[in-house]
Amino acid sequence: MKNILVINGPNLNLLGKRELEIYGKTSLKEIENKTKEFSKNIKLNTIFKQSNEESKIISWIHECVNDKYNGLLINAGAYTHTSIAIMDALKAIENIPIIEVHLSNIHQREEFRKKSYISEVADGVIFGFGAHSYILAIMAIENLLKKKNG
Ligand code: DQA
Repeated sequence: MKNILVINGPNLNLLGKRELEIYGKTSLKEIENKTKEFSKNIKLNTIFKQSNEESKIISWIHECVNDKYNGLLINAGAYTHTSIAIMDALKAIENIPIIEVHLSNIHQREEFRKKSYISEVADGVIFGFGAHSYILAIMAIENLLKKKNG
């Protein structure tokens, strides 16, 4: 089984309780369970992590540099729009696919959400499908891994 790290940034621990009209009623735990179930069927193992701290997110990205995982899916929350440090950490990853994911359609919201530092580095971006964005992102990573490994 290939291991896919799924990093979730600040405030995503509040999914299901926070701005329901934007992010929906599904909790992060429910997204994790659904994503894991879907992934298992296509022989991928997903490891979910969440932190409200930028430094923790950066340390998890560093683990990807050391080839501990075969792919990275990242929803950096608001750090998406601000964190050069996270972008720089992602730039150090050379060998594995990176997919940026968001529940909301960040281009339909405030102007400041249109800028993503993660997009500068990610292989692709999936946003706007609510909790289902994570499943679509897993499909995208599977496709990239197949292309890479034949
Ligand atoms: C988000 C979009 C970000 O702009 C916001 O700060 C979040 C969640 C999303 O998944 O839609 O916290 O990343």
